[in-house]
Amino acid sequence: MRLERPSLKWEKEHIAYMKEWDGDRLSPSSFRLKEDVPYEVYLEELAVQDEGQDNRVPSTNYFLVDDNERIIGMVNIRYYLNDYLRQVDGHIGASIRPSERRKGYATYLLSKALNITDQLGIRSVLVTCNEDNIASAAVILNNGGVEDESFTEPHGNIVRRFWIER
Ligand SMILES: CC(C)(COP(=O)(O)OP(=O)(O)OC[C@H]1O[C@@H](n2cnc3c(N)ncnc32)[C@H](O)[C@@H]1OP(=O)(O)O)[C@@H](O)C(=O)NCCC(=O)NCCS
Repeated sequence: MRLERPSLKWEKEHIAYMKEWDGDRLSPSSFRLKEDVPYEVYLEELAVQDEGQDNRVPSTNYFLVDDNERIIGMVNIRYYLNDYLRQVDGHIGASIRPSERRKGYATYLLSKALNITDQLGIRSVLVTCNEDNIASAAVILNNGGVEDESFTEPHGNIVRRFWIER
């Protein structure tokens, strides 16, 4: 298993991952593809977005890829927190392909993402999940998360917030 940055090589696999996604909007949002946007253009827009623009902070995206060149998961790593990230989304957002869940991959992917936040010099890493996302909370706890106060979004969604000290 390894991490790979998005590139043209991954177009078919990325589309396959999107198709497998279970109805809801793909997470992390940086990996969402639009039908009318060519993959080259998506990659260009992603590169600009990753530089940080408007209210987005700089970030990097990686696929978790297996030895059969299949995308197993996706992770978006934000370089620092703004007010929104501090309350809701944290430093790291990740997902695992529906057919590959419950095999320990998210726990592994978060540990790899933490190696990258280490390289970025982030000592306290904020990782969050919705209150009803038991799997995500388990993944965060598996990686040493210590729970802080929850945040309630204006529409009532409760976000659990965990710090991982490095
Ligand atoms: C949350 C998510 C990343 C977990 O991925 P995963 O690869 O299945 O997680 P793991 O296999 O590493 O499992 C971690 C723990 O969660 C538990 N778990 C996984 N799925 C579960 C479920 N549906 N219900 C209850 N527990 C679950 C596992 O048993 C494991 O527990 P353990 O370590 O105590 O044994 C995956 O379900 C997903 O992509 N969900 C949609 C996107 C999302 O919610 N992302 C997180 C918010 S950014």
